[in-house]
Amino acid sequence: MTTARRANPMFGPNAFKLGVFRMNAEGGLAITRKEGRWPAVWADIAEASRVADRAGLEFNLPLARWKGYGGTHDNAARSYETLTQAAALAAITEHACIFCTVHVALVHPVFAAKAVSTIDHVSGGRAGLNIVCGWNRDEFDMFGVPLPEHGARYEQGLEWFEVFGRLVRGDRFDHAGAHYRLQDAYSDPPTVQQPGPVIMSAGGSPAGRAFAAHAADFLFAVVRDADHAAAVVEEIAADATTRGRFAGICAITHVVCRETEAEAQDFYDDYALRQADDEAVDRWTGAKAATSQSAPADVMAARQRVAGGHGSFPLVGTPEQVAEGLIALHGAGVSGASLSFFDFRKELPFFIERVLPLLERAGLREPFRPG
Ligand SMILES: Cc1cc2nc3c(=O)[nH]c(=O)nc-3n(C[C@H](O)[C@H](O)[C@H](O)COP(=O)(O)O)c2cc1C
Repeated sequence: MTTARRANPMFGPNAFKLGVFRMNAEGGLAITRKEGRWPAVWADIAEASRVADRAGLEFNLPLARWKGYGGTHDNAARSYETLTQAAALAAITEHACIFCTVHVALVHPVFAAKAVSTIDHVSGGRAGLNIVCGWNRDEFDMFGVPLPEHGARYEQGLEWFEVFGRLVRGDRFDHAGAHYRLQDAYSDPPTVQQPGPVIMSAGGSPAGRAFAAHAADFLFAVVRDADHAAAVVEEIAADATTRGRFAGICAITHVVCRETEAEAQDFYDDYALRQADDEAVDRWTGAKAATSQSAPADVMAARQRVAGGHGSFPLVGTPEQVAEGLIALHGAGVSGASLSFFDFRKELPFFIERVLPLLERAGLREPFRPG
């Protein structure tokens, strides 16, 4: 059985797509010492994934991480491997696109094609792949693989994607390139989605965006605010290397949504300011500054925002305020957002109950009716 890639939930009818991000990693998107932070245990991930799925959120995006950032709790050291987890999530969900994430230099495209195809078959054509060309030198050192220079990472990424793309389409071929030499390569079964699964990428540098424009349907970006989001969307549209290639530009956010603004702000100040894991914040921003160009410098310097959600767009306040933030992103031309919570299991149901109806009223989404 095959389906068109366009049948993937990422291409569903809602004008503004939503999904959960980073449930597979300890701390979620927060870098905090606060007790009760996301523990990334399977039972919780499975339950929150089902809740998101039943509410019609379009995607479930993990983090591919092999090593933590140090600090008091060695943030994100504990994480589930994303291809493996995606296969499990594929089996217990029914609607959402289940993303997995690969590091180009660490995962061979022949292996990736087979694994992603497996997930696509288990999910009935809902697999998605986030291609990361790498930035975290400590992780590469752990594998004994040199982190290529910035431009070279993306050159390898292009060859990786070419090989992967042919395999998941069902081609059988020899390949001799700068990075891969393959003889009689094929991957059976090909993916259900044809001509291949939904692809996303999240490079913020010009090379990262150009790579994404070649390989990806969706680019995920770090945005400062709605004005910056609009500028990013415009920049991409104005640049010949990226123009018109994406089905959508999505933003990453972290959400603290409570009945009152004061309650939300107090909680945010507690986990992301007073109990921020400062050492891990320094290590993450330092490592990023050395090897990647993905977020504006002022965003990386905003410590609460980094501790709160790795510099992503903060949505802190009442359901109305959180909805306003998402509506502003939509108004800026962004076509979706990832959501991360301090505790997905406790906080996601409140978001679904109170924020989704506001987005529906604003015309960003339709009430979910399982097909
Ligand atoms: C939504 C999102 C998801 C990402 N997921 C991962 C990941 O799982 N693993 C990882 O090492 N980097 C991840 N990144 C980092 C980027 O993909 C990218 O490699 C990094 O920003 C450096 O690229 P650049 O210098 O081209 O901006 C993610 C970034 C974003 C915004």
